[in-house]
Amino acid sequence: MNTASTSPKQGALPAIGFGTWPMDDAEAATAVAEALRIGYRLIDTAAIYGNETGVGRGLRESGVARGDVVLTSKLRGAEQGYDEALRGFDATTRRLGTDHVDLYLIHWPLPMKDRYVDSWRALIRLQQEGRVSMIGVSNFQQAHIERLQRETGVLPAVNQIELHPDFAQPALCSWLAAQGIAIEGWSPLGRGKPQGQVLETLAAKHGRTPAQVALRWHVQRGVVPIPKSSKPERMRENLDVFDFSLDAEDMAAIATLDGDHRQGGDPDTHVEE
Ligand SMILES: NC(=O)c1ccc[n+]([C@@H]2O[C@H](COP(=O)([O-])OP(=O)(O)OC[C@H]3O[C@@H](n4cnc5c(N)ncnc54)[C@H](OP(=O)(O)O)[C@@H]3O)[C@@H](O)[C@H]2O)c1
Repeated sequence: MNTASTSPKQGALPAIGFGTWPMDDAEAATAVAEALRIGYRLIDTAAIYGNETGVGRGLRESGVARGDVVLTSKLRGAEQGYDEALRGFDATTRRLGTDHVDLYLIHWPLPMKDRYVDSWRALIRLQQEGRVSMIGVSNFQQAHIERLQRETGVLPAVNQIELHPDFAQPALCSWLAAQGIAIEGWSPLGRGKPQGQVLETLAAKHGRTPAQVALRWHVQRGVVPIPKSSKPERMRENLDVFDFSLDAEDMAAIATLDGDHRQGGDPDTHVEE
């Protein structure tokens, strides 16, 4: 049953996506089918999540046309390198049960391995072969992306990075926007119910929940947030942010929350298998 309108677009991407970590195959199959029926049109998974099989199943069971969905997956660290990335992509498509991925990302730069440029060349080839529509990166800093451009001449279409009201990364976001690189925000709610007086005051002002205020803030900054929920009522709540807006004062109040509150790994040092 389709109970909400479909996510509008932000450039080439739906304005809000659906995250699937940490779901196993069974949970992902149920949640993805439900999210698509509710109106999400961007689904985010990754080889390392171990749920691509379930995500593919949910997509097929949803009844939503494959061509209407931006299916995203990511290359894991252990499969970085040119040949390894091509093999990693093949394995991803087998698990997803599709021969085409709409958006394929390098999950982490892993600069200590120094293989992300070789991996990027593999993604460029996959795009040239028509097996991927858009290629991008995740957790890349400006310097990592500048190196990709210097050595391959190809900029990523997307950088998926950690973003929430108390970790807003304004300098990196401005630079990405200036390059025309779309920004996706992971952990957009800060990995749970957003709290604090500013968000609660704005929620009361707009008759919304703090989660909706946080997601609306992402959208108005030009970021595509990818909240995860296993609960259909929250899936709906998180998509229902397109009929109100935050004014300049609201946006400025949320900007005061920004600080050094990274919850995930530091891209320069994070090790991911
Ligand atoms: N590229 C990367 O390195 C990377 C890293 C981390 C995550 N990601 C992606 O980003 C997605 C989202 O990030 P995340 O899962 O870390 O964090 P998140 O989406 O900020 O938060 C998810 C948590 O918030 C709860 N929640 C969802 N909607 C809510 C609402 N309206 N009110 C209160 N609580 C709510 C969920 O619980 P319930 O499920 O119980 O509702 C879950 O515990 C992941 O699923 C994954 O696809 C990418």
